[in-house]
Amino acid sequence: MNVILEAIQKSAIRIKNAIDVKDIGYSQEQNSSGETQLQLDIQSDLIIEEELSRIPSVHTIASEEKEHPMMLNENGRYFIAFDPLDGSSLVDVNLSVGSIFGIYDGVFSPEKMIASCYVVYGPRVELVFADEEKVSLYLLQAGEFEYVKEIRLNEKGKINAPGGTQQFWAPYHKAMIDSFFARGYRLRYSGGMVPDLHQILLKGGGLFSYPGASDKPEGKLRMLFEVFPFAFIFEKAGGKAVDGTKRVMENEPRHIHDTSPCFFGSKDEIDEVISVYAGQQ
Ligand code: AHG
Repeated sequence: MNVILEAIQKSAIRIKNAIDVKDIGYSQEQNSSGETQLQLDIQSDLIIEEELSRIPSVHTIASEEKEHPMMLNENGRYFIAFDPLDGSSLVDVNLSVGSIFGIYDGVFSPEKMIASCYVVYGPRVELVFADEEKVSLYLLQAGEFEYVKEIRLNEKGKINAPGGTQQFWAPYHKAMIDSFFARGYRLRYSGGMVPDLHQILLKGGGLFSYPGASDKPEGKLRMLFEVFPFAFIFEKAGGKAVDGTKRVMENEPRHIHDTSPCFFGSKDEIDEVISVYAGQQ
C-alpha cells in the first residue's frame, strides 16, 4: 500500500506543477515545443495513469476521464478508481481543486474498499489518506508530504454545504437545509467537492449534501470516483455518509460512471438527514 501512496504523492506534485504553469482551456493547441497542450484534467489523468502503471500490484485502474477501466497487470491485486482533477472548471477562477482515489481489493465494489485518498490543491497542497486504522492529514512542504495529524470528526458541526440547484430540490430537502441555517449553521460551498468536504473534515463537522432532485434524480456525484472514497474517509473519521436512506457504501454501481445522491457529515447532521428522508418514503 505504501508504494501506492507514494505514487499518489508523486502524481500530486506533478499535477500541482501542471496547475501552476500550464495554460488553461487550450486543448488541441500546440505549445512552443510543438506538443499538443492538453486540458488540465486530461493531463492529470495521464500523470496518474503513468505513475500507477509503474506498480506491479495494481491490477486495474478506472478514471473519471475514461469510459472504461484499464487493466494494467493481470496478476496485480489492487483496483484503483480516481477522479484526476475534480472541479477542474474552478481552476480558471483560482479556487481550490482536488484529486480523489479509491483503492479496492480485487474488484470495484464498496465492500472491498481498503483505502482512499484525496489531494487538495489550494494555497497549500494537502493530502488525506484513510485506511482501516485511521485518517491521516499530510502537507506538502519542500517537495515532500509530511504527516501532520489524525483527522477525527466531532459529533456535530456548524457548516452547511448544500449542493445542486435549489429550484429543483424536493420541498422536504429545502425545508431541512433551511432548518440547519435557522439553527446557526453557516454556508460554506465553493462548488468543489474536495475543498468543501476537506473544510468539514478539518473544522470538525457539518453537512455536505448533493441530493437527488427533479433535474438529476440520481444526483450528480459519481459513486466510484467521488462518493465512495469520501464515504470511506468520513466513516473512518467517525462521521457518516448516506444516500438519504442508507449508507452509500451499501450501494453497488452497475456502471463505473453511475451517480448517487449523497450526504456526508458528522453523526448528528446525518442522523437528521436519515430521519427527514425516512418521513418521505
Ligand atoms: P466538475 O468536476 O464537473 O467541475 O464538478 C464538480 C463537482 C463537485 O466537485 C462539486 O461538489 C459539484 O460538482 C458541484 O456541483 P453544483 O455546481 O451542481 O453544486
